[in-house]
Amino acid sequence: MLVLGIETSCDETAASVVEDGRKMLSNVVWSQIDIHRKYGGVVPELASRKHLETVNYVIEQALYQAKCSFKEIDSIAVTTGPGLVASLLIGLATAKAIAYTFELSLVGVNHIEGHIFSNFLQYNEDRVSSEKLLPPFIALVVSGGHSDLIFVEDYGKYELLARTRDDAVGESFDKVAKLLQLGYPGGPIIDEISRKGNAEAIKFPLAHMKDESLDFSFSGLKTAVVNFVKNHKLPQESRSIADIAASFQRAAVEALAEKTFCAMEEKGIKKLVLGGGVAANSHLRDVFKNRAEKNGIALYFPSPALCTDNAAMIACAGYYKMDYGVARPFKSVEAEANLELKSWN
Ligand code: KG4
Ligand code: ZN
Repeated sequence: MLVLGIETSCDETAASVVEDGRKMLSNVVWSQIDIHRKYGGVVPELASRKHLETVNYVIEQALYQAKCSFKEIDSIAVTTGPGLVASLLIGLATAKAIAYTFELSLVGVNHIEGHIFSNFLQYNEDRVSSEKLLPPFIALVVSGGHSDLIFVEDYGKYELLARTRDDAVGESFDKVAKLLQLGYPGGPIIDEISRKGNAEAIKFPLAHMKDESLDFSFSGLKTAVVNFVKNHKLPQESRSIADIAASFQRAAVEALAEKTFCAMEEKGIKKLVLGGGVAANSHLRDVFKNRAEKNGIALYFPSPALCTDNAAMIACAGYYKMDYGVARPFKSVEAEANLELKSWN
């Protein structure tokens, strides 16, 4: 079964063809980063206009690289939220037009769910890792808009264990990078520059919830960095900037690891899955690898290209949803900016 995935929730226009849920035949991502960089963040109006301009080309490329045509596609999967609503609508309207023209089934996919499912593409017997990933597991989804800990009992059976109470972790990377005048998007730049810094140089605080909850909070850490920079003036030497970046990164990753491994213990689960743009962070991957090894936990994370936004993860989740019988009449599939992650039944 061939599923065409379409993703336009933020600033990447993406399309992909996936065979039988786990085999990626193409994965085309048209990034708008260069358009938004000069504004220091995503400008929603520009994003939707660019999606409209590029979406047809990106889909054509995905079909071309997969060596197939619309006629061979069985179903369409499209991101319906969460995201920028005008951007989501471009992907959804395109998906509906294709589904209508070629009489295909259409399924809406939650973007967060997509980030979890990117691991099913990575841990597929055909790919580098010979092991096939199966639920149950705990997933940590860390991106520009979300920091969620989810218990995935089965395909499409979710229990939200924790989320951020303020900034998402990727958002805090982006804000700190802006403050340090490093550019946009902040995550990859902080990751890179931190390699030259001393992560022990500044002891930024870790957030502790008064109610012992597993929820995350990153705004306090961001404010601590703001205050540090204010009190010390933005240092001129790149060495000190690298120290601030590395110390911030260490604190952010430590906060994620603390809560995640606590949740693993509470739930008694030995399988951990990472997803979302921040899961591409090299320090995070190292820390999680070490802690997982020490705690006898099997750790799974996608390649960096499958961590950041792509449509293969949407096609993959769409396949399993369709298999579960969740495809709906396409007229009733709608875009929703704040779509919550829900179980399929
Ligand atoms: O999943 P994603 O591509 O889009 C959203 O769903 O938001 O995640 C984008 C976020 C941005 O905040 C970006 O700065 C962050 O992921 N990111 C990283 C890295 N690569 C991307 N954060 C830390 N280290 C990285 N290497
Ligand atoms: Zn994302």
